Amino acid sequence: MDQVPQHILITGTTSGIGRKLLEYYHAHGERVTAVNRRVDERLEAHYPSVQFKYVDVRDAKAVDTLLNELTRAGDLPDLLVLNAGVNRVDNDPTLSLDEFRQAMETNLFGALNFVAPLIALAANSRPIRILAVSSMTIYAGNPFCLGYSASKKVLTYCFHALAQMYAKTHLKFQWIVLGFVNTDITSSGDKFPKVMSWVKTLFSVSEDKAISAIVKLARSSRCCLIYPWKTFFLFQGVRLAQLLIPGFYRGRKQLVPMPSSGGGVKGMERVDTKR
Ligand SMILES: NC(=O)c1ccc[n+]([C@@H]2O[C@H](COP(=O)([O-])OP(=O)(O)OC[C@H]3O[C@@H](n4cnc5c(N)ncnc54)[C@H](OP(=O)(O)O)[C@@H]3O)[C@@H](O)[C@H]2O)c1
Repeated sequence: MDQVPQHILITGTTSGIGRKLLEYYHAHGERVTAVNRRVDERLEAHYPSVQFKYVDVRDAKAVDTLLNELTRAGDLPDLLVLNAGVNRVDNDPTLSLDEFRQAMETNLFGALNFVAPLIALAANSRPIRILAVSSMTIYAGNPFCLGYSASKKVLTYCFHALAQMYAKTHLKFQWIVLGFVNTDITSSGDKFPKVMSWVKTLFSVSEDKAISAIVKLARSSRCCLIYPWKTFFLFQGVRLAQLLIPGFYRGRKQLVPMPSSGGGVKGMERVDTKR
């Protein structure tokens, strides 16, 4: 049976999907708490009834303090949409640990930082839904954005495990696996042949459609929603092509196979990228 949330906390509402979700729930008369890492005065002015909290989701202590404050005030939301995320090109031309870490800290820990205190707090509270925004990159990882793909894979794994573990308790874990959505999130499209950006456009959905899917999931008893199916099949095709076509969707490596007398690959040598 459908359950309509009454107080929704959304992370990352300054743009894209998070902003649209804020608009949606506000327009439907629900209470909204928006958690952002920076002040957006125009957004605040536009939505005076929305409660704005300023927390970087990577900061576990700050997230813990926020959730404890809300609990003490008897104001813990009944739905949390853990949407804040970043995409970083972290593996071109070399592996950048800093960029990789940014993606992991935001997309994975930025969600788990909410989950840990909520598990501790939930025992004394009303039912709470925690909904994570995952991505179809979990089916065919983007070699240029390893941190993004890895963070969404682990996030999805964690939510799957937690959903099973906490089934029939106060806590409901849900996750949506989204395909391409037309937002301003960083893209690695310029790394691929032009035809790939054409395919991406063809398989993208609007923010409004993505919001409808999230809202539908958040009202349902399901744990997971894959949306849209057409892009799911595209990603499965990409995964198959990665396996079958040498070099397909493999990134740009900095080492080349060393020529060897026997014809086989015996080792690797470094390519001087400055030349
Ligand atoms: N767009 C897609 O094709 C797509 C596909 C699958 C999944 N997703 C997922 O959907 C979610 C939203 O993506 P989007 O496309 O809407 O991206 P977006 O337009 O770039 O929005 C990302 C939001 O997250 C916020 N954010 C980033 N780091 C943060 C931090 N450390 N603390 C608090 N907020 C932070 C951003 O705030 P600032 O404005 O301060 O940067 C922004 O409000 C992400 O989790 C993304 O991985 C997107």
